[in-house]
Amino acid sequence: MYPDDFLRRKLEERIAKQSLRSLRLSQGLIDFCSNDYLGIAHQHLLRLSSTANLASGSTGSRLLAGHYTLLEETEKQIAGFHQAATALIYNSGYDANLGLLSSVPQKGDTIFYDQLSHASIRDGIRLSFAQSFSFTHNDMADLRKKLLQATGTVFIVTESVFSMDGDICPLQQLVAIANEYKAHLVIDEAHATGVVGKQGEGLVQELGLQTAIFARIHTFGKACGCHGAVVLGSEQLRTYLINFSRSLIYSTSLPEHAVAMIAESYRLFPSMDAERKQLEQLIDIFQHATIRYEKLSSSTPIQGIVVPGNKAVKELAEKLQQEGFDVRPILYPTVPEGKERLRIVMHAYNTVQELQRLLNLLT
Ligand SMILES: Cc1ncc(COP(=O)(O)O)c(C=O)c1O
Repeated sequence: MYPDDFLRRKLEERIAKQSLRSLRLSQGLIDFCSNDYLGIAHQHLLRLSSTANLASGSTGSRLLAGHYTLLEETEKQIAGFHQAATALIYNSGYDANLGLLSSVPQKGDTIFYDQLSHASIRDGIRLSFAQSFSFTHNDMADLRKKLLQATGTVFIVTESVFSMDGDICPLQQLVAIANEYKAHLVIDEAHATGVVGKQGEGLVQELGLQTAIFARIHTFGKACGCHGAVVLGSEQLRTYLINFSRSLIYSTSLPEHAVAMIAESYRLFPSMDAERKQLEQLIDIFQHATIRYEKLSSSTPIQGIVVPGNKAVKELAEKLQQEGFDVRPILYPTVPEGKERLRIVMHAYNTVQELQRLLNLLT
């Protein structure tokens, strides 16, 4: 017997709230769940011509044995694609947000962040010694009100495409406010990468605002179909992170094999116009469909229908799964109570017929 009785109380609380999570293996259902928007992972599109000379492990942190030529070359390739001065690869998007936000803002500084920001943003902020305030989701009037409490160097952190709602931040307004208040913008482009912009560059470049942003985070585990993330910014920011960002310094870096996949993905996804067109078509059908549930307004592959209550949303997800669709419920506390939802994700490999069948079940 493990001496773990003290864990039971919190687990029982979750059971009582119908919010106990468990791991599920994929059942081979029609995918309306994964973040593989372009189908790069699903269709095994990242084939390296040779893996023979690629190391399986990097053998150390970037600051010790874990730094190598392919990493540096891939960072230059990605910085070039995103029209940034520099790029710094992290092992994941979680690590990138944690490492950036915990190290850059200092005691006496202030961070303002959208209330729907991803857990990795919130955890990074929690680890920093700066004071922080959330603002109402995409509400610029509330942000302005909160900015009155600013001290020290000011940061505004948000996502370009929100992970659970699929909506987009008002980036031009954010840039104007940041200029007015001399604030530094940090934009997480995790769900925009590969999908938003002519070549999948993200929202910042689509709007030509790359020089107005202090730091951008792009992650590779979603439309890129592989793993890892990058922080884009100035030469000085990169040097700073190499010196102070603990999730970069105190972790074994990605192996060559993983970095070769990232480089390949960045060679591939800019050309995937047909896939982005197919996504547009599916999004349009979903947004115009009449169904029984409240739909979230979204122009991105992340679509949602609100089904209040953990029990109700779980039951609906199970029903759809029995009909052959991989659709997962997003429960409180991941989303606010009463806003529990089905997160329905479009992919370039989903057909119009599959989507119609799914919509019929929701009508
Ligand atoms: C907005 C956002 N940022 C960061 C992350 C973390 O990225 P990763 O999965 O690469 O750790 C996610 C992943 O869900 C996300 O949705």
